[in-house]
Amino acid sequence: MTGMTPDAAGPTVINRYESPAAWRDVDAYFSALLVPEDDALVAARESGAATTMPNAEVAPNQGALLGLLTHLSGARRVLEFGTLAGYSTIWFARAVGPQGRVVTLELEEHNAQIARTNLRRAGVREWVDVQVGPAAESAQRLIDDGAEPFDLVFIDADKPSNPAYLAAALRLTTSGAVIVIDNVVRDGAVTDRDSDEPRVQGVRAVAQDIATNPELDATALQTVGIKGWDGVIIARRR
Ligand SMILES: C[S@@+](CC[C@H](N)C(=O)[O-])C[C@H]1O[C@@H](n2cnc3c(N)ncnc32)[C@H](O)[C@@H]1O
Repeated sequence: MTGMTPDAAGPTVINRYESPAAWRDVDAYFSALLVPEDDALVAARESGAATTMPNAEVAPNQGALLGLLTHLSGARRVLEFGTLAGYSTIWFARAVGPQGRVVTLELEEHNAQIARTNLRRAGVREWVDVQVGPAAESAQRLIDDGAEPFDLVFIDADKPSNPAYLAAALRLTTSGAVIVIDNVVRDGAVTDRDSDEPRVQGVRAVAQDIATNPELDATALQTVGIKGWDGVIIARRR
């Protein structure tokens, strides 16, 4: 994923994994100061390299934000679309604690196996349910089974499916639930209404769905850092 960001020498193409040094330095400073990772989080993050989507996990300070949102909202049940190696899952699982529950949906069995190992190492495996298969199908199964409502939903899987995942999240939550959607800025490409990139259109479509849903209060924040220029939508069900 690349985008155009102006600098003194003119527009520079920025790869999300080659952020400007200043962005990386600030992330490193605050993460080291405020978000020290234990060995289990480091191992989970580093094991992302062995998954089908290396480096696609959230940054440490973003993981901490997810944990804080979970605490701040008092969430006990979290649903995650997109597990990868379980890095964000660990942040959620630690935030809800052993009395809580995290259900995380992952397409690839290979990634799920890596995630299970990481979750075990982090000491949270017992209250995390890793479900393998297309997330739309897994979510539909939760709906059909009458799953207890979730308090917080994190949407971080294939971006073209964002509208479908939001629709499922609305069927799996009730009033007060928090819904977080990752990677909504995409190096600024989100503002290109004519983009032929399905991931961009997936973000624009879900943003439109949120905007026209009277049940949802929401905002979007841009972020820069070790993951490039991106951002999140944070929504709450009234
Ligand atoms: C951005 S990564 C998730 C990162 C993870 N949430 C974290 O921060 O540590 C996206 C994940 O979604 C998974 N994925 C892609 N398409 C999917 C689908 N249709 N159903 C379920 N998972 C899918 C990918 O295999 C990948 O593991």
